[in-house]
Amino acid sequence: MRHNRIMQCVLLLCSLLLLVGCGTRWDIHTETTEDTLTPMDDNLIVVGVSQIGSESVWRTANTSSIQNVFTKENGYFLIFDNARQKQENQIKAIRSFISQQVDYIVFSPITEDGWDTVLMEAKEAGIPVILFDRQVKVSDRSLYTTWVGSNFEEEGRRAGLWLAEYLEQTGRSGEDIQIVVLQGTEGSTSVIGRTEGFDSVAALHDNWKILEQADAEYTTAKGKEVMKDMLGRYEQIDVVVSQNDDMTFGAMEALKEAGVSTGVDGDVILLSFDAVKSALKLVEDGQINVDIECNPNQGESIEKVIRDMEAGEEIESEYYVSEQIFTPENVSDYLPDRTY
Ligand code: AHR
Repeated sequence: MRHNRIMQCVLLLCSLLLLVGCGTRWDIHTETTEDTLTPMDDNLIVVGVSQIGSESVWRTANTSSIQNVFTKENGYFLIFDNARQKQENQIKAIRSFISQQVDYIVFSPITEDGWDTVLMEAKEAGIPVILFDRQVKVSDRSLYTTWVGSNFEEEGRRAGLWLAEYLEQTGRSGEDIQIVVLQGTEGSTSVIGRTEGFDSVAALHDNWKILEQADAEYTTAKGKEVMKDMLGRYEQIDVVVSQNDDMTFGAMEALKEAGVSTGVDGDVILLSFDAVKSALKLVEDGQINVDIECNPNQGESIEKVIRDMEAGEEIESEYYVSEQIFTPENVSDYLPDRTY
């Protein structure tokens, strides 16, 4: 009796392994919006999404915007994978999408380098790849179809231009201005673009001294740690440029603990990026001087690309989402409608 039961289990396991091995389209992985081991409806478009992780409030909003459009009601079967900040997990996820023969691979690359091989595998399997948020540096542009995301360089430039104008308005344009920058994930498109954009404006101002640009990984904990360390090393900091809101929250904690105030009436001018609701409240409060928006709502544009591809329409090589900046002067008009 016991022997029979064991045999039944072994047989069941073997058939499951066979099905997976034969490339049958089953959803077999752990982090998905669907039940595991669910046979797919052949009429649905199967989309494999590899997200970087959940390091920030922005990222959570970005994930929701994608999960909200790739639904069964809209005609999709979504296989979602959270790479937990590791490129090797993203590569593993993409390989699993290829072996499951998805119709489209959609992913946000954590850094720009290191994608040629896996994207070549997707190309050889005939699966179109759509990038969102960040970009890749590859030797062959035909390895992906298009990209949807933000103009990061423009965001950085906006921060620089805002600072120049603010210093002018507050009568400080002739002073020496000591600046520190908290950067996000090293090698990511958002860091590269924001840094280049801000630096291009800083280069026009001899009196702006960038003391340091340090990696704080886009997280609150690291933002606090790096800010604390900087406060211990620099006597005078006039401006903190924090490349996302989560690092800003951490930096504010460190500054507060050191008895340093921020914002409109504060000791330090504070510039942030992303513009999530909790940060916009601090802009309204006057504790953050300016928040440069990075728009996480990219799901609809990505879905539209796929719809167009299904209809055989021409696809552009890149799609930018719209963004703006928030200051205490305009933020109250936008806060009530902010959903993230
Ligand atoms: O690439 C976009 C950045 O990644 C956002 O600014 C940040 O919050 C996120 O984690």
